[in-house]
Amino acid sequence: MSFKDLKVERVDGELATTLLKWYPLHKRGFVKIGQKKWFLPYRYVEKGDSIYNFEIRPDDTWIFSYPRSGTTMTQELIWLVANDMNFDKAQRRYLVERFPFLEIGAILDDHIATENIPGRINTEKYSIEFVRNQSSPRFIKSHMSFELLPTVVNSSCKIIYVARNPRDVVVSWYNFMKVITHFQYQGTFEQFCNNFMNDHTLWSPYWEHVKQAWAMRYRANMMFLFYENLLKDLPGNIKKIAAFFDKTYSNEQIAKLEEHLKIENFRKNPMVNQPSPDTVISSDMFIRQGTTDGWKKMFTPKIEERFSKWITDNLKDTDLSFPS
Ligand code: A3P
Repeated sequence: MSFKDLKVERVDGELATTLLKWYPLHKRGFVKIGQKKWFLPYRYVEKGDSIYNFEIRPDDTWIFSYPRSGTTMTQELIWLVANDMNFDKAQRRYLVERFPFLEIGAILDDHIATENIPGRINTEKYSIEFVRNQSSPRFIKSHMSFELLPTVVNSSCKIIYVARNPRDVVVSWYNFMKVITHFQYQGTFEQFCNNFMNDHTLWSPYWEHVKQAWAMRYRANMMFLFYENLLKDLPGNIKKIAAFFDKTYSNEQIAKLEEHLKIENFRKNPMVNQPSPDTVISSDMFIRQGTTDGWKKMFTPKIEERFSKWITDNLKDTDLSFPS
């Protein structure tokens, strides 16, 4: 099986027209790829092969998540735990250079991905080649589903998946899409929620994404985390992740990391609050509220009714459940 064997369905007709109104920068439109119809921009069709066949090294560490699930804080946590709590280096090098984002150059339209606009990330520069050429041990972020990155699934490298309650994901994702200049989402929150539930937001379907990882959670090289649990018991989770990397740390070191990851400190840290060294975005765009249950302020009864049914329907056939 190769990338070329996967079914690629072009999104067309009325839906394509509406999507272009909501995502005016994605002029080349969207596609649905593979068995599960992964919703991605057209550009992915051209880049997907090098992602599908991405060569893994056994000492790689990968983080996977659906967007806005707490990936950035988990990346920083993992990197520090795996690198002997080297806070000095973490304060000098951007997270995107220490822990780059594999497909970032494949998810924006060509003109956005390659433009050199001051203050805006040149996504092409930090994508596939950049990741490939990192020195070992590499730390790599991806939002891809495992179906589109089979080399990782078949490897023995460390894989960490972080999941978050979909109600908070959709709120965070909408706020991000609206303010980030790469996306400039133009629709309403309700339309965004409908898109999310209809699997028409990037990297969807959400449930397949989470469930594929959940099904792999007992593998020795895999760790499945919930954002909500990280917030509830950060020291406990730091210890768990340290054990995964065969590391032990003193209570003082753990407390220092906890302080480093506190949202108010994290938001002020330019090494993590910017998507790249070339970007200048407001510090609370990327690192926003960092709470659980923030959705309660944004959901109308109508949205909640639909969402609640969607969640119930999708949790029927699985033992996956989100921490309360
Ligand atoms: P909110 O928008 O709900 O605040 P990702 O890194 O996957 O894009 O996830 C982003 C979400 O994680 C955002 O959620 C962001 O504020 C939250 N986040 C980032 N850093 C955090 C931290 N140190 N502690 C708690 N939440 C954090």
